[in-house]
Amino acid sequence: MSPRARAAVLVSGNGSNLQALLDASAAPDFPAEVVLVASNLPTAFALERARQAGVETLVLEHRAFASRDEFETRLAAELEARRVDLVCLAGFMRLLGPTFLRRFPRKVLNIHPALLPAFPGLHGPRQALAHGVKLAGCTVHLVDEGTDTGPIVAQAAVPVEDGDDETALAARILVQEHKLYPLALRLFAEGRLQVDGRRVRARGAAVAEGLALRNPGV
Ligand code: GRF
Repeated sequence: MSPRARAAVLVSGNGSNLQALLDASAAPDFPAEVVLVASNLPTAFALERARQAGVETLVLEHRAFASRDEFETRLAAELEARRVDLVCLAGFMRLLGPTFLRRFPRKVLNIHPALLPAFPGLHGPRQALAHGVKLAGCTVHLVDEGTDTGPIVAQAAVPVEDGDDETALAARILVQEHKLYPLALRLFAEGRLQVDGRRVRARGAAVAEGLALRNPGV
């Protein structure tokens, strides 16, 4: 059996997506293991989830660094020291620039609570409600230097109900996030994502998995 990919998860908050990745990677046949959870905020509950799972944690407070470059240089060095292959952003509230991304080219995934390219940036569910869309959802994408602009790996849609407020819609989306992110990481770690410009195809993925990527709720 080939060795599992070594994944780092970057977090800033609650870490429910981190939990989904930890739970998935607890299965011995999952092709990635989470070797490090790093946060820019020492108070992130996600750190507690990592400790509970016995995964190493690291806090690098961005405010302690003189510049974004210095923060990113140190973050990349910490990941390289742990021989990290893949990076998952899971509610990580810092933009990553070229200093970091050049050291992990096409190796960084993010999950966003909207059907990109609609509603990038903060408050995806709030933006979706304000716009009056009937379908909302989530997107896993490769990270580039823009805000939520990288090539799309997987998406899942949910209906917007008439009575929804932001909390209700965000919760419905989050259920799908927790299914979609482990699925995308699995394909990523197996080296099955083929990137052709903006288009990402899952090479050799079984038909069922392809359908699940488009709508893991069915
Ligand atoms: C999720 O909605 C994710 O899509 C966004 O930030 C939120 C993080 O939630 N990037 P959690 O910390 O994983 O619970």
